[in-house]
Amino acid sequence: ISEVLTDTFKRKHDYLRISLSEKCNLRCQYCMPEEGVPLTPKERLLSSHEIFTLSQLFVQQGVRKIRLTGGEPLVRADLEDIIRPRFQKLEKILKPRQTTSRRPPVYRHDNQWCDLVEEGYQALKAAGLDLLNISLDTLIPAKFEFITRRKGWDRVIKSIDTALDLGYNPVKVNCVVMRGVNEEEILDFVHFTKDKEVDIRFIEYMPFDGNKWNFKKMVPYFEMLSLVKEKHKDLVRLGDQPNDTSKAYKVPGYKGQIGFITSMSEHFCGSCNRLRITADGNLKVCLFGNSEVSLRDKLREGLSQEDLLQVVEAAVKRKHKQHAGDRLIRRNKAVERSRLCSKLPHN
Ligand code: GTP
Ligand code: 5AD
Ligand code: SF4
Repeated sequence: ISEVLTDTFKRKHDYLRISLSEKCNLRCQYCMPEEGVPLTPKERLLSSHEIFTLSQLFVQQGVRKIRLTGGEPLVRADLEDIIRPRFQKLEKILKPRQTTSRRPPVYRHDNQWCDLVEEGYQALKAAGLDLLNISLDTLIPAKFEFITRRKGWDRVIKSIDTALDLGYNPVKVNCVVMRGVNEEEILDFVHFTKDKEVDIRFIEYMPFDGNKWNFKKMVPYFEMLSLVKEKHKDLVRLGDQPNDTSKAYKVPGYKGQIGFITSMSEHFCGSCNRLRITADGNLKVCLFGNSEVSLRDKLREGLSQEDLLQVVEAAVKRKHKQHAGDRLIRRNKAVERSRLCSKLPHN
């Protein structure tokens, strides 16, 4: 990986997340306000060509995984165009420099809902998409409507089955756990992995602007784990990959597995390998940070590749060591732990 993508804490950024759209057909309470988010006019979003140009630039500097995200990436009409021709070209760029330990870029996306699940996934797979992450926070349809403020639970279930049938492996399912909302479903979600080869990831609820986060609503990792272990005493800890956000476990005999994304209680900033590009072309070096710089404007000003790389490097070098959520939690942790530990089984 090049110096351009290495920050002052020696973290190497080989994972690029590109947001394709600010739009989403759901209104998950933890993510968006009821009225949605202000949308950037289409001409100010990155075009599929610009997305390719930037992907190429980052891949040349050592990026090895690209995830397409949103909003909801499937709302973008040119999604297949973004994946297919570009993907093949990027693979060609990679070949000469590829070693066996390096993985080719992977296009991924989060999908929460899609009218054309079957046709859509088939086309995307044919275009070169090889991994899928899907959001599902509840196994109860009425609760789905409460959390997402929209209908569509059955479609998400169908999309998970379709993804499995098409051979996407693993199919990761993201479940944001919120106290008083879906925490009592954790064991049902574990059960969901019995016959399906899914990876259910329980995510600690994170604060974002205006999402009404508060410390009490967040169910920390140690509490979720204790709950699962109480029922499944034989729960096995699996090994994690170096930059995994998730701590993986498995109930012996179950087809799928579970994981915990401990963004709040045990942040993984020290091993962060992620950079983000927003749908309107801003480079963000941290999920919690504000946008750093508009790569779209630089592209449209006709900056040379060299100058563009300087802009990227300067932003990467400004990346902070970790996000502030950690301080927030440390302040509350002592109190919370003592409150909870009295209730938890010790194993
Ligand atoms: P894979 O495990 O490779 O699929 O990627 P991922 O872990 O990034 O998965 P995904 O994009 O589905 O994100 C799942 C959750 O991980 C998000 O909801 C966030 O809670 C958390 N997450 C993802 N990226 C970051 C990050 O850069 N920083 C932090 N703190 N949390 C992140
Ligand atoms: N806290 C934790 N996870 C969140 N996601 C969105 N908002 C939050 C939040 N406030 C998750 C969703 C989605 C993934 C990309 O981010 O589960 O699948
Ligand atoms: Fe990386 Fe920022 Fe996420 Fe920490 S919070 S893991 S530094 S993106």
